[in-house]
Amino acid sequence: MKNVMVTGGAGFIGSNFIHHLLKVEPDVQVINLDALTYAGSLENLKDVSDDPRYSFVQGDICDTDFVGGLLRKYQVDTIVHFAAESHVDRSILGPRQFVETNIMGTFSLLDAARTFWLQEKSLPVENVRFHHVSTDEVFGSLALGEPAWTEETPYAPNSPYAASKASSDHLVRSYGHTYGLPFTMTNCSNNYGPYQFPEKLIPLIILNAIDGKRLPVYGDGQQIRDWLHVEDHCDAIHLVLKKGIVGSTYNIGGENQPANLTIVETICEILDEVSMDASHTPHKNLIEFVKDRPGHDRRYDMDTHKISSELGWRPRHTLTGGLLDTVNWYLSHPEWVTAIRQKQEYKGWMDTNYKSR
Ligand code: NAD
Ligand code: TYD
Repeated sequence: MKNVMVTGGAGFIGSNFIHHLLKVEPDVQVINLDALTYAGSLENLKDVSDDPRYSFVQGDICDTDFVGGLLRKYQVDTIVHFAAESHVDRSILGPRQFVETNIMGTFSLLDAARTFWLQEKSLPVENVRFHHVSTDEVFGSLALGEPAWTEETPYAPNSPYAASKASSDHLVRSYGHTYGLPFTMTNCSNNYGPYQFPEKLIPLIILNAIDGKRLPVYGDGQQIRDWLHVEDHCDAIHLVLKKGIVGSTYNIGGENQPANLTIVETICEILDEVSMDASHTPHKNLIEFVKDRPGHDRRYDMDTHKISSELGWRPRHTLTGGLLDTVNWYLSHPEWVTAIRQKQEYKGWMDTNYKSR
């Protein structure tokens, strides 16, 4: 791993991964390829922007020739592919962009990598790797009591987001099987932590609660997700890059399954304790049950035995500690929050998704 292209590196997990990689791999060169959609922000990478090991390129993963040029220019040996449209609610209101970015974008990257690594034989094939970052949502939804998903569970995606990710996973697998492209893949549960765009549940609830705005809980709030601190996710991806078996996929999860309402109430309790502004205490009075998401998946649960037994990975953060750190991060980064809130895409989304709920 010398020259690593990170796609979507200005987004939530990608930016955390770049911070992580620069910390744990002193000799690495990182090329961050990001289109800077509404979800990407260079604010997330301010503190590494002067690092000589880091370069940013603004561009679209769907442009195969452009990506091919970058692979040659930087002699890229490793691609860590995060770039995607990532929000389920947006995929329900506008699925086309998800098909384009998640399916066509992944296809475009795979094809550029195949040309550069396998056809032009630019680098020894044993030194190259395409790592695809995917989600647990490809497996569908579990009823209470059903066993957790393993790497062998058949895909059954329910939302346009999940279907587009499932499709991209299949394309990656097919490039490995058909062309011998060396890949690894990880399917991870819901992440939370610093730099998450406040359209996803945890940062949305934190920021609304700080402002004394209503806390929208979809349906009965009894849907269950598995939650993982983003640093644990980054650590797992790094481990898979170092020690994972080529052609393998690994499930990643936080080994906890609280109901959404419990997450929201926990954030309220943390803010009651740590917020300097007591005017909205108790914050749980702001909770409001709103119209449910269409096709809302009920329960997710990941079986993570493979990554723990083969690679020795375990999450380091507990959910309680991770949530406390995350609330404190949002409280102590008002400039980041203000910059995001000023984006028209943020304000527009809050109106589009919540006004009629
Ligand atoms: P995000 O929405 O915060 O960031 C996505 C990034 O991709 C943004 O910086 C955006 O500008 C960039 N991007 C979008 N389209 C692009 C294009 N055409 N070309 C180049 N860049 C483009 O997403 P995230 O939450 O950081 O998720 C990253 C990856 O991890 C995604 O593939 C997602 O499916 C997967 N994942 C996310 C979670 C989660 O809980 N957030 C969990 C499991 C897996
Ligand atoms: P989200 O963060 O959008 O992640 P995902 O849909 O990928 O799991 O949502 C997490 C859960 O929280 C999901 O069950 C939907 C629910 N949710 C709410 O109840 N209210 C909200 O305002 C949002 C954004 C999500």
